Amino acid sequence: MVIKRTTEQASVVSPKKSTKDNDVFEQTLRPKNLAEYVGQGKIKEHLLIHMEAARKRSEPMGHTLLYGPPGLGKTTLANIVAHEMNAQMRTTSGPAIEKPGDLASLLTNLKEGDVLFIDEIHRMRPVIEEVLYSAMEDYALDLVIGKGPTARSMRLDLKPFTLIGATTKAGGMSAPLRDRFVHTYKLNFYSLPEMEKIVERSSDILNVKIEDGVAAFMSGCCRATPRIANRLVRSVRDFAQVRDEKTITLERAKDTLMSLGIDERGLDETDRLILHSLVEKFGGRPVGLSTLCASIAEEQETLEDVYEPYLIQSGYLQRTAQGRIATERAYKMLGKLSVAA
Ligand SMILES: Nc1ncnc2c1ncn2[C@@H]1O[C@H](COP(=O)(O)OP(=O)(O)O)[C@@H](O)[C@H]1O
Ligand SMILES: [Mg+2]
Repeated sequence: MVIKRTTEQASVVSPKKSTKDNDVFEQTLRPKNLAEYVGQGKIKEHLLIHMEAARKRSEPMGHTLLYGPPGLGKTTLANIVAHEMNAQMRTTSGPAIEKPGDLASLLTNLKEGDVLFIDEIHRMRPVIEEVLYSAMEDYALDLVIGKGPTARSMRLDLKPFTLIGATTKAGGMSAPLRDRFVHTYKLNFYSLPEMEKIVERSSDILNVKIEDGVAAFMSGCCRATPRIANRLVRSVRDFAQVRDEKTITLERAKDTLMSLGIDERGLDETDRLILHSLVEKFGGRPVGLSTLCASIAEEQETLEDVYEPYLIQSGYLQRTAQGRIATERAYKMLGKLSVAA
């Protein structure tokens, strides 16, 4: 059985970034400083120390790598660092840099202390990545001028800057690039109380009044991901608005989520499809990544970076050397007896 999602369902519950409209919406809700940034306590604590130390030395903070599933706050954190360091942030992404020259020109245009943010840094091509090595290590750019026997290399000094890289896949980066980051932080999924705070904060900013209990209920439905929480708040608001309801009731929230295909565990159709597939189609045998992807018509990268982390974290799926399997918990949820039982 293949369950097809509507476009609306897909865009609301996907942790991935989507349309321009969502960009504007995300900007509005994006915390501007560390105090507003909910959760990720250890990372904030460390960043505060490193930013302060850098300020005292009048140097930019060390290059920083942020990794973790989409929607957990990597871009937000990069913006906050730039803001707190009183620095300008230049933004690009791995796939957007086509030639080494594009990156060279970005680097030479940086002013002292600027933050260069490279999103999806694991998708940068190796020839481009190499330009970064000396830039990160020595604030210098090694250029080769001319071709063949007359070619010579020239070193160009750069202004000291901070590179912040973001990736959903730290394992997808080359070791030489990874090693050049001074600080590496893994963003974790958010706890229920943290998600509740985020739902409340977003409702406040969007001027949406919610009844007691709504934030607590919604916090469990967001795959522990702030981006999804924000989209759900927005959807619930729309569902209430067309009915002229001034305040979001628990009933309206439940209804909206149900019609978006989200259950009270926060799993969406694709999550359930994955588990269903493992249990029903493959009868509990370990399944390889490509086979599983083919059976649910989803790309490997999406399954690995977007869906699996949450299913693993919440105890529904396990990765074994032989392949993916559904856990006892998944069987229970689907109302099935596991092979082991
Ligand atoms: N710690 C947080 N506290 C409050 N809101 C957050 C937090 N992290 C992320 N968000 C919200 O989630 C949205 C997506 O975060 P973003 O930084 O774009 O995720 P990523 O870059 O990891 O995909 C942001 O617009 C912001 O409103
Ligand atoms: Mg991002």
